[in-house]
Amino acid sequence: MRAEYANGNNVMAYARNVLGKTIGGGGGQNHRLATLVAYDLQAGTYVEVTKNNPDFNQQWCKQLAGLIALFLPKGGSLLELGVGEATTINGVLQLLNTDIGDAYGFDISWSRIAVANHWLHENSQKANLFVADLMNIPLADNSIDVVYSSHSLEPNGGNELPCLTECLRIARHAVVLVEPLYELASPEAQQRMRNHGYVQGLKQAAEQLGAEVLDYRLLDITSNPLNPSGVVILHKSSIQNAKSSFWQCPLTGSQLKPSDDIYYASEVGITYPILRSIPMLRSEHAIITSGLKV
Ligand SMILES: C[S@@+](CC[C@H](N)C(=O)[O-])C[C@H]1O[C@@H](n2cnc3c(N)ncnc32)[C@H](O)[C@@H]1O
Repeated sequence: MRAEYANGNNVMAYARNVLGKTIGGGGGQNHRLATLVAYDLQAGTYVEVTKNNPDFNQQWCKQLAGLIALFLPKGGSLLELGVGEATTINGVLQLLNTDIGDAYGFDISWSRIAVANHWLHENSQKANLFVADLMNIPLADNSIDVVYSSHSLEPNGGNELPCLTECLRIARHAVVLVEPLYELASPEAQQRMRNHGYVQGLKQAAEQLGAEVLDYRLLDITSNPLNPSGVVILHKSSIQNAKSSFWQCPLTGSQLKPSDDIYYASEVGITYPILRSIPMLRSEHAIITSGLKV
């Protein structure tokens, strides 16, 4: 994939041809490792695009910030799923600055989080960023006030239900998904989305999970008409209190605690490493350390 990327080819298409659609990778249409490698190889490109077109970035973030603001309590927490290089959360934080308590974001790609940390630092913004998988989020139930996405569920076609289950589990008030909406797209766009293995049926999947869908429509601002951005807002009708613990082991669901240079789940004896200040919290990163003393 690295060689294909260097030659300017579509690395996801290459991976789909080599791996097929069904081998491993969590049962989705794109192999999970292929998604990770493809996005990791692109690290740095979103910051470049943002620097070259700051106006579009600002409009994009304004559209999203307006939707988030509808549900964010004063001083509440927010989290961006698949935060990439933080080019979206940076703008959202600038716009909602005074209303936000803690900001979080995660991505499957370490290289993108590394770029994201730089970008936030350059822009004097703060968010706690870590590596994690959408289908196994290392946070406790009801731990974040507003969970949102900006085209990060997109490549997880076939895994709509596990993705939405996790989003609804960690959100306290609402899940604001800004994603390409297959059912509202043109036939040409739908064909393209099928070819790329993009998500479909987000509204139906959310309803199947018993979520209340408050908003479902295409948005005005979209970067590519062949990948039309829309919004699906899911509301948690019965608000439950967050657990006393915030982090949770993505493999076992036990309580996870940051401690110096690791995240440690003492009940099960599992440790997750921190690589160059980035917590590595995918279940694949779990290290069995029953003899570890903290
Ligand atoms: C189209 S980019 C959008 C990035 C960012 N949200 C933005 O607005 O610029 C999709 C991002 O989702 C991440 N992603 C895709 N599938 C993921 C998964 N299963 N778990 C975590 N991150 C994922 C990718 O690594 C990538 O950074």
